[in-house]
Amino acid sequence: MYCTRNITDSIVWVGGSDRRLALFENLFPIPRGVAYNAYLILDEKTCLMDTVDASIRQQFIENVLAALDGRTLDYLVVNHMEPDHCANIEELALRFPDMKIVGNAKTISFIQQFYDLDLSDRTITVTEKDTLSLGRHELHFVFAPMVHWPEVMMSYEASEKILFSADAFGSFGAHNGTLFDDEVELDSEWMSDARRYYTNIVGKYGPQVQMALKKAAALDIALIAPLHGIVWRRKMTEILEKYQLWSTYTPEETGVLVLYGSMYGNTENAANVLAAMLADCGIHKIAVYDVSNTHVSQLIAESFRYSHIVLAAPTYNNEIYPAMYNYLHDLKSLNLQKRSFALIENGTWGPLSGKAMREFLQGIKGMTILEPSVTIRSALKEESRAQLAVLADAIAASLHS
Ligand code: FEO
Repeated sequence: MYCTRNITDSIVWVGGSDRRLALFENLFPIPRGVAYNAYLILDEKTCLMDTVDASIRQQFIENVLAALDGRTLDYLVVNHMEPDHCANIEELALRFPDMKIVGNAKTISFIQQFYDLDLSDRTITVTEKDTLSLGRHELHFVFAPMVHWPEVMMSYEASEKILFSADAFGSFGAHNGTLFDDEVELDSEWMSDARRYYTNIVGKYGPQVQMALKKAAALDIALIAPLHGIVWRRKMTEILEKYQLWSTYTPEETGVLVLYGSMYGNTENAANVLAAMLADCGIHKIAVYDVSNTHVSQLIAESFRYSHIVLAAPTYNNEIYPAMYNYLHDLKSLNLQKRSFALIENGTWGPLSGKAMREFLQGIKGMTILEPSVTIRSALKEESRAQLAVLADAIAASLHS
């Protein structure tokens, strides 16, 4: 049975949610599920803005047919050719033989790569100068390459001032009946999932997101309709401010993220002691995570959030403890910049993880390493505890500078 919601009198949300999928992109845990949004514009012409993932095809088709209410589908605009949004192009092409597929040159070439069905005589290739009139509604195309693939574009509907923003402003999380930003608790789960989504999926492409934000700033926008997560209409400023911070790698919080790996609890003890010392220094924005027990996507999201990051890791095979190495590898890949780090190493006979972490961080833009780095030999002793106290003071001084 169809399950739709109107986002305006003439635009219907025809997407759906998946709570069965454990890992988005077979990588990222999604305990709250994920939503795939698609929107149908009903005018003299009918126009669908993107499709959905194959996993919810049946629900999507029921939604589209119900919203069309016996009409045909004239246009499908493909803003993003990643399979979580384009998996139903062939299905729609077969159901609606007169439907035209609208995309830019790269979109059209990706369609040919993904599908065998010859759609070449059914495509309309657009540039940023083109518009598509549907009657009262008129679509303008705003290219946003690498947010998150090179073909990505956003579509702006001028009469109702709606930005169909593709992956931008999206979030993990299935819809719970609610769809709009004013129907959910924004500060808790949704913003946290929006951060984890942005930082891990698009985080690498800050400069490209900045370009897209500048283009969006030139538009009069009343509602942002992304391909994932909630629809923004009352709290757009909040998500736009977050995007400004995230895409310039500017921390949201002046505080300390403490990440530790620990085989037997001794490095964990050092992390906890340091966190307590920081609290004694009057620092109360502190978050502590075990890198072995926390998914790296959450560690990345928190790293984008905090200004200062403490890394505490054992030496393992003369290298960095694997779970910490995995985090650092992601951190570098996702282009995080402009953070202050502090390092704690542990090793029973040859502590080397501090040196290895330092070398890794030195390859990342705008990173500062606060001194002293602390060395623990097996377990914290008075001498290394005293080193931790000096480091806590150095972190506090940096935070207050
Ligand atoms: Fe939601 Fe880049 O696809």
